[in-house]
Amino acid sequence: MPYWTLHTLSLFLWFLQSDAGSAAIGDPCSTSRHHLDSSTHKFISDCSDLGYCSGSVNGTCVARTCRRDQFPFGYSPSDTLPPLCPSGSFCPDEGNGCKIQVDPGSACQMNRDEQCARALNWQEISSTENFYGSICLHSVCMYANATLGTACVIDNTTYTDIGLDGQPYTTVVIRDNCRSPYLHCGQTSLVCEESRSLGSLCQNDQECEQRNCVAGLCMEPPETPLHVAPWQYALTAMCIIGAMVATCLMLTLVHKRHRLARYRELREYYLEQSSLRRSMIEMHSAAATVTMTDTKQKLC
Ligand SMILES: *[C@@H]1O[C@H](CO)[C@@H](O)[C@H](O)[C@H]1NC(C)=O
Ligand SMILES: *[C@@H]1O[C@H](CO)[C@@H](O)[C@H](O)[C@H]1NC(C)=O
Ligand SMILES: *[C@@H]1O[C@H](CO)[C@@H](O)[C@H](O)[C@H]1NC(C)=O
Repeated sequence: MPYWTLHTLSLFLWFLQSDAGSAAIGDPCSTSRHHLDSSTHKFISDCSDLGYCSGSVNGTCVARTCRRDQFPFGYSPSDTLPPLCPSGSFCPDEGNGCKIQVDPGSACQMNRDEQCARALNWQEISSTENFYGSICLHSVCMYANATLGTACVIDNTTYTDIGLDGQPYTTVVIRDNCRSPYLHCGQTSLVCEESRSLGSLCQNDQECEQRNCVAGLCMEPPETPLHVAPWQYALTAMCIIGAMVATCLMLTLVHKRHRLARYRELREYYLEQSSLRRSMIEMHSAAATVTMTDTKQKLC
C-alpha cells in the first residue's frame, strides 16, 4: 500500500482506538503525564478528547480552544466545536490554542507536518507526502527538499493496531525528506535515490514512485482512478453503434418477412377466389350446354 494512504489510515485508526484520558472538563490533571501511546502513537493526556490540561502541577482540564480536524474525534453532533486554526498557524495535539508554524530545525509533534512553516519555494517541493513542502521527521521540522545523491533523514514508525479479526497487525510507515515522489531515501545508503517507475522491481513501497510495491513490482496503488484509454472509448462507441445498427436491420428484416407472408396470403386468397369464380363460370356454362342439348333433343 502507498505509505501516505497508510499514514492517513493509521491516523484514523489511532483515533478509533482512542484511549485518551477520562478526566472531564474541570477535573484535576497534570501535563507531566502527556505521552504517545506505544502502539498507536496517539497523543494521550489525562483529559478526555474534549479538553486539555492547564498545568503540570495541580492542573485542571479545560475545554479545547482549537481543533486540527474538520470532524474531531470525541465530540457529539450537538457539541459546539472549537475553531480550526487560520493559515500560518496550527492546533497542537493538546488543542490548547493555535500556535504559529515553526521553521526548519524546530520541534514539531510526531508526524504533524502542518506545524512546520512552508518553504519559500514550496511549489517546487510540495507533494501529497508533505505539507506545502515541509515535513516533520523524528519530531523536527524540515523541508522535503533533499536532492539526488545528498544525505537524507529517514523516519521509520511501526503502528500496531487490532484488526477486525481481533488479531494485532502492524503497519510500518517510512517517511523521508527527499523530493517526492521521484526520489526516496535509500534505507542503507541514507542518500536520496531515484524512485522506481511503474513495473520496476522493488523491495518496499517507499522505493516506488507510486509508493506501492506488490509482490516485488511497483504497482498502481489500489485507490488509483481507472483511466479509460481512447481506444477503449472508441471500441465502446463502436459496439453501441453496431448493436443499434444490428437491431434496426433485424427489425427491418422481420418486418419484411411479415409483409412477404401477408402478401403470399393475399395472393393465395386471390388465386383461390379467381379459381372458384372460374369453376363456377365453367359449371354455369356446362349446365347451360346440357340444358340446351336437352331442349334440342326434346324438340327433335
Ligand atoms: C497542589 O495542590 C496541593 C493540594 O491541594 C497543594 O498542597 C500544593 O501546594 C499544590 N501545588 C501547587 C504548585 O500549587
Ligand atoms: C533545503 O532546505 C534547507 C532549510 O532551509 C536548506 O538549508 C537547504 O539548503 C535546502 N536544500 C536544498 C537542496 O535546496
Ligand atoms: C523499520 O522498523 C522495523 C521494526 O523496527 C524494522 O523491521 C525495519 O527494518 C525498519 N526499516 C528501516 C528502513 O529502518
